[in-house]
Amino acid sequence: MRIITTESYQEMSLEATKIVAGQVYLKPTSVLGLATGSTPEGLYDNLVAVHRTIGLDFSEVTTFNLDEYIGMAPENPQSYHYFMHKHFFDLVNVRPENIFPDGCAEDVPAACKAYDKLIREKGGIDLQVLGIGRNAHIGFNEPDVKFEATTHKVKLDDETIQANARFFEDEEAVPRYAISMGIKTIMLARHVILLANGPEKAEAVKKAVCGSVSPAAPASILQLHQDVTVIVDRAAASMLPEEYQHGAHEIF
Ligand code: F6R
Repeated sequence: MRIITTESYQEMSLEATKIVAGQVYLKPTSVLGLATGSTPEGLYDNLVAVHRTIGLDFSEVTTFNLDEYIGMAPENPQSYHYFMHKHFFDLVNVRPENIFPDGCAEDVPAACKAYDKLIREKGGIDLQVLGIGRNAHIGFNEPDVKFEATTHKVKLDDETIQANARFFEDEEAVPRYAISMGIKTIMLARHVILLANGPEKAEAVKKAVCGSVSPAAPASILQLHQDVTVIVDRAAASMLPEEYQHGAHEIF
């Protein structure tokens, strides 16, 4: 695990941009796993700028989204499908036949199985981008997750519902269920980058980077992944040991 602590959200987004852009430049047929939420917005803005200014080509890239609310139509502005189009896909030349978990699939277990199969058929995920929840979730893998789970239906934690209410009219409107890549699916990615910013993520980052590996803190499993880069701003790093609060370090 490598950790890069930056001075600001902008710098965190730039470090992530170097990694994702480098991946796509060196392997134009890369398979990317992508997260939604506030954290990666700066990364997506930067990738759009790199595409527009120096022509970084996404035409051969395949993308898989981490998660989607169940029962939410793709055209709903709160859907993750809509988010990805608005912030990224519609602004670069990723081909429209990108793949998402289908939040409206009638047979959810079959759709989940098909999703993992498709990831395998595309050669597996080269680079997975993750954010982290305040409860240390990754994707929608909430505390007490089963580490062996592949893509599956999840019930959202109350804490996640409260945190995501900011995107909806009120808390009641937040869907209770989602489809999420499982921990096993995420762990099969060849390289993972985990982004976090702000003081409200400090505790979760501490659990992910130096807590015990436990289903109680889903992101802690990343300590067992062979190639993870954690990129955090100073506020999100504030509960880490002093030496990790500046610069870049190999932790183990
Ligand atoms: C989003 C996802 C979630 C978010 C996490 C942080 O696709 O899988 O795990 O990454 O909830 O969300 P933000 O970035 O909004 O703080």
